Amino acid sequence: MERLGLFLCLLVLAGSFDEMSAHFRDDYDTIIQAYASTKPVEDWDVTIQYPKPARAREYNIQPGEEVDVGSSRDKGNPIDDCWRSDPNWPYNRQALAYCGVGFGAKAMGGANGPIYVVTDDTDADLVNPAPGTLRYGVLQDGPLWIGFSRDMNIKLQNELIMTSFKTIDGRGFSVHISGGAGLTLQYISNVILHGVHIHDLKATGPAVIRSNVTHVGHRKGSDGDAVNIFGSRDIWVDHCYFARGPDGLVDAVMGSTAVTVSNNYFEQHDKVMLFGAHPYDTMDQGMQITVAFNHFGRGLIERIPRVRHGNVHVLNNFYEGWGMYAIGGSEGPTIVSEGNIFNAPDTNDKQVTKRIDDGDPDYKQCLSWNWLSEGDLFLNGAYFVSGGAAPGSYVYSKAVSTASRVPVDKVGAITRDAGPLACSPNAGIC
Ligand SMILES: *[C@@H]1O[C@H](CO)[C@@H](O)[C@H](O)[C@H]1NC(C)=O
Repeated sequence: MERLGLFLCLLVLAGSFDEMSAHFRDDYDTIIQAYASTKPVEDWDVTIQYPKPARAREYNIQPGEEVDVGSSRDKGNPIDDCWRSDPNWPYNRQALAYCGVGFGAKAMGGANGPIYVVTDDTDADLVNPAPGTLRYGVLQDGPLWIGFSRDMNIKLQNELIMTSFKTIDGRGFSVHISGGAGLTLQYISNVILHGVHIHDLKATGPAVIRSNVTHVGHRKGSDGDAVNIFGSRDIWVDHCYFARGPDGLVDAVMGSTAVTVSNNYFEQHDKVMLFGAHPYDTMDQGMQITVAFNHFGRGLIERIPRVRHGNVHVLNNFYEGWGMYAIGGSEGPTIVSEGNIFNAPDTNDKQVTKRIDDGDPDYKQCLSWNWLSEGDLFLNGAYFVSGGAAPGSYVYSKAVSTASRVPVDKVGAITRDAGPLACSPNAGIC
């Protein structure tokens, strides 16, 4: 009797979604056949140029400073070297899932699941999204590798609430999520975001939104974070473009951990990355995040990243500059900065680091927080204020996510292709 009650209840909740799932299964075979592995290369009848977004490539490097800006293809980028030189990458998309590094390296995304292709750029229905839309894909139960059929811009009407074991893979097309809301990863795991431009977002108001196959809920509205990682783990954000949002670009809060943010291009934004939302969020003490091989471009102000409590490895990134500071934190986070290029702005804000007083009674001991810089390159007067345990101390092992540090003189080369890659949808070196 109880079972029957539960069943009826689920039936009411899930009724229309059952219909969607049926569509999904019907469409699925056709879509798969029109895509990826079963499709011979010569059937692609168009050759499209996929330009990168317009963005400054002139680095603010001082006369006499030399930065190698050659291609990163097989030049020592530990992630890219794992898959980019495979000319059959479009037929072997899921190989990417095995190329992660750092604390988020175990994120499987939709590996070993079917491939789903977004063919419809609309986002008209937040409860019963149409088959072919991005929202329809991210709501499916179980692993799903989500690709795109063409260049497109998706303006999300409200938060895109993702489910576990999903990859959003923009390779081959110029895929933008802009003009509307961003992505919410709440209490989930195993998500890979790759090769998508997420920019010019807006805060959104309250709405009724489906969060998975069986659950539809009232949401209070979103701040417009590009990627909001909330109580989630095993998340990898690679080769994306982020700019111009109303709040954070990639935020990880409320007990999120095992996250890697790599090979992304960030520009024109105030609060770039917040790791840990509040002084009293002690669940973030175990947080481990890797920020590696990113290009932090023009017009970024602060929080690159800003850390509360947890352990963060900032590895081999290229900072063109910043407005206030690059790496900041409070509540005694452990930060290991290795092999980054820090090019200070021309203003007086030369310090990379900022210890932030947000009411923590231990703030007066902030110079004993364990913040370490090793092998970083400082340009235009940039400097890092280290503190806490001496280099080599065991305390830093919680914040060191990988031993594959690239020598700093190669960081220009390995971050040269940060952001979405211009890969042909056909086979060929990406
Ligand atoms: C769907 O979401 C609800 C609410 O967040 C959650 O309790 C439930 O476990 C989820 N179900 C699945 C299948 O993920």
